[in-house]
Amino acid sequence: MTLRGHAALVNTLGLPASAQWYAALDDIAQLPALLANPSVTNLPLTVLGEGSNVVLRAELPGLVLRPQMRGMRIVEWRGSQALIECQAGESWDALVQWSLKQGLAGLENLSLIPGSVGAAPVQNIGAYGVELADRFDSLIACSLQNGKPRSFSPQECAFAYRDSFFKSVEPGAWMISSVRLLLDRDLAPVLGYADLASRYQALPDEQRNATGLRELVCSLRRSKLPDPALLPNAGSFFKNPVVPAEQYTSLQLRYPDLAAYPQADGSYKLAAGWLIERAGWKGKRVGNVGMHAQQALVLVNYAEATGAEVLAFADLVRQSVAEMFDVVLEQEPIILP
Ligand code: EPU
Repeated sequence: MTLRGHAALVNTLGLPASAQWYAALDDIAQLPALLANPSVTNLPLTVLGEGSNVVLRAELPGLVLRPQMRGMRIVEWRGSQALIECQAGESWDALVQWSLKQGLAGLENLSLIPGSVGAAPVQNIGAYGVELADRFDSLIACSLQNGKPRSFSPQECAFAYRDSFFKSVEPGAWMISSVRLLLDRDLAPVLGYADLASRYQALPDEQRNATGLRELVCSLRRSKLPDPALLPNAGSFFKNPVVPAEQYTSLQLRYPDLAAYPQADGSYKLAAGWLIERAGWKGKRVGNVGMHAQQALVLVNYAEATGAEVLAFADLVRQSVAEMFDVVLEQEPIILP
């Protein structure tokens, strides 16, 4: 592990950013000594994985730590379920592919989500009716005070829609070092997403398996979501807002084709992409940024945008959605610094 000064930070939104100090960790055992180093003790610390869910505004003060610990293994079998463990530095999609190769099902709906395994619990990644929380067993995170490891149960992680303990209760206090998930030998396909269900049912018998489902998820994602390598973005830029039933009903009267999903507690989750499209932002570009033409919820960087430009544009979108629907959109990616 080496400390580098003024290191450029990779991020899928393609924003210009750097870290005052930067260190990649290959071995979590190096963390306590690093944190005890007198030149590091008083620096602000930021943990950053592959930079797929952040808006970077400028040079990050202090030390940016990049977990690069590798490894995936089956810890044990519990009947028809396997407990697997993955180190934080692996790419999420590499884990999905590995699990399918082991003959394990459960992660196929989460195929192709950019980012690292260590970042996945922070925002409780989700897609096509499955969230990380559904497959989660436990994780190990190290305190950024002293590097000491601690195990977190699902309850302690406080998972919610695109949210967790690490995102909103104690942000910046922990480095997730490994994650354990519980997967199935036999596929129980999650087909609540209508488009996925119809495509899956249409597959020939021999492809109706976890790998077949992954292929469908990959092609659905590729048809809607821009590849960050070609058109920089951070996936959905806003969360789908949840509103009380009364507000949903009054909106639905004004907009009969409002896209919304009833929640267990009687509230409604509105499709932010629909709100943004209706407010006229789909495919609209202002300067270097815009909302994607195929998926209005994805903010894209067309050229050399800065973090400030991205946030100013997001504010315009947020304001016009608020004026039109009286719904305030909450940003999904984390803003740093
Ligand atoms: N819609 C529009 N116009 C648009 C986009 C969407 O009208 O331009 C409406 C349509 O009615 C559509 C509905 O919104 O049926 C939902 O759209 P979509 O299926 O594309 O999903 P989403 O709600 O926009 C969420 C997640 C995605 C995830 C997909 C699939 C959030 C914030 N986003 O998007 O996650 O891949 O569902 O499950 O919950 C991410 O978090 O970065 C992400 C990409």
